[in-house]
Amino acid sequence: MSEVRPGLEGVVAGETAICSVRPEGELIYRGYNVHDLAEQAGFEEVAYLVLFGKLPTGAEIKAFDDGLRSNRTLPPGVIESLDRLPSDAVPMDALRTAVSTLALYDPEAGDNSHDANLRKAARLLARMATAVAAQHRLSQGLEVVAPDPELNHAANFLHMLRGRRPDEFEARVLEVTLVLYLEHEFNASTFTARVIASTLSDLYGAVVGAIAALKGPLHGGANEKAMDVILEIGEPARAEAWVEESLRQKRRVMGFGHRIYKTADSRVEVARKWGGLLGKQLDDTRLSDICTTVEEVMRREKNLCPNVDFYTAPIYHMMKIPVSLNTPIFAMSRVVGWSAHVIEQIDNNRLFRPNSRYVGATGLEFEPLDRRG
Ligand SMILES: CC(C)(COP(=O)(O)OP(=O)(O)OC[C@H]1O[C@@H](n2cnc3c(N)ncnc32)[C@H](O)[C@@H]1OP(=O)(O)O)[C@@H](O)C(=O)NCCC(=O)NCCS
Repeated sequence: MSEVRPGLEGVVAGETAICSVRPEGELIYRGYNVHDLAEQAGFEEVAYLVLFGKLPTGAEIKAFDDGLRSNRTLPPGVIESLDRLPSDAVPMDALRTAVSTLALYDPEAGDNSHDANLRKAARLLARMATAVAAQHRLSQGLEVVAPDPELNHAANFLHMLRGRRPDEFEARVLEVTLVLYLEHEFNASTFTARVIASTLSDLYGAVVGAIAALKGPLHGGANEKAMDVILEIGEPARAEAWVEESLRQKRRVMGFGHRIYKTADSRVEVARKWGGLLGKQLDDTRLSDICTTVEEVMRREKNLCPNVDFYTAPIYHMMKIPVSLNTPIFAMSRVVGWSAHVIEQIDNNRLFRPNSRYVGATGLEFEPLDRRG
């Protein structure tokens, strides 16, 4: 096979039983539609489903959730290392560093057995949220807030970030976005994680690489850039002219377009609905109104649909979460998907090692350095 497909577009690079993304806009995790999961299940339940391949019983979810709650505290050495980071460190870079440091404190880090990887995945899931909140507070000169074992994953994150228990509805809206972000098949960061895992490296290393891939604005970083767009527009009345001018200047409107979804991103409908409800609760529909207009103009002018990042970004903004935490929040959910893929890869491994077509020079005659001037 010698055909080159830039960006591996259209290439089937492997098989998975974890998730399926359909171009017409359907997303399923382990056979279940993401809409049903986001609307009817808790984040922990969906994490269990994706990691273990089946919906948990009452006893199974209790044991899994108890394990998460009891593993949230970061080893003191990790907190110390976060405290030594520059206060202006980019939160995604800090999270990448935190995950790398967490590996050093995990006695099972080098154990690639199926069960050890599941245990590590749960520990990492529990601790990444703590690391995001702790690093943010340290960067602001604030005390780190201890996890609250009475709160679920989403509510506890908001509690650790702000130092007070969140409103129940707000925590539920965050939870819905975490379910939407949890898994998405062979996207760039997941593929990165699988490539790393295919060398029989370890789960932590694979997640560190995945975080680096997610940071890019063409991937997860879009949920920060999309918010910059919405804030730059500022008022619904300015939205149409802003989009037209951006397109005239051939600028990409972040939060639009997708390599696979061409008619709709299945997650948008759910994120749009919950963002709208949050806006109503806060009596502020300005951001939803901007988004609706941008969406209409992008469809009319470019036939491009919004992706989930365009609708989660305003949700986090309404929760007064700093924009630079948008992608770390994405990561602290997607770690579930990454871990499931690492486990699936290692359980049935074949090293990723594609070919390239060489287009450089050949037959050059080597000239020693002293003759090259
Ligand atoms: C996600 C993305 C990289 C997918 O790209 P892709 O499938 O490779 O599509 P291409 O980059 O080939 O773009 C196809 C066409 O759509 C246009 N396009 C794609 N996304 C666009 C956007 N967000 N704004 C404006 N135009 C866009 C391209 O300019 C190109 O137009 P042309 O054919 O007139 O040159 C791309 O849509 C993008 O950059 N989006 C913004 C970043 C983003 O939101 N990422 C999160 C994805 S979940």
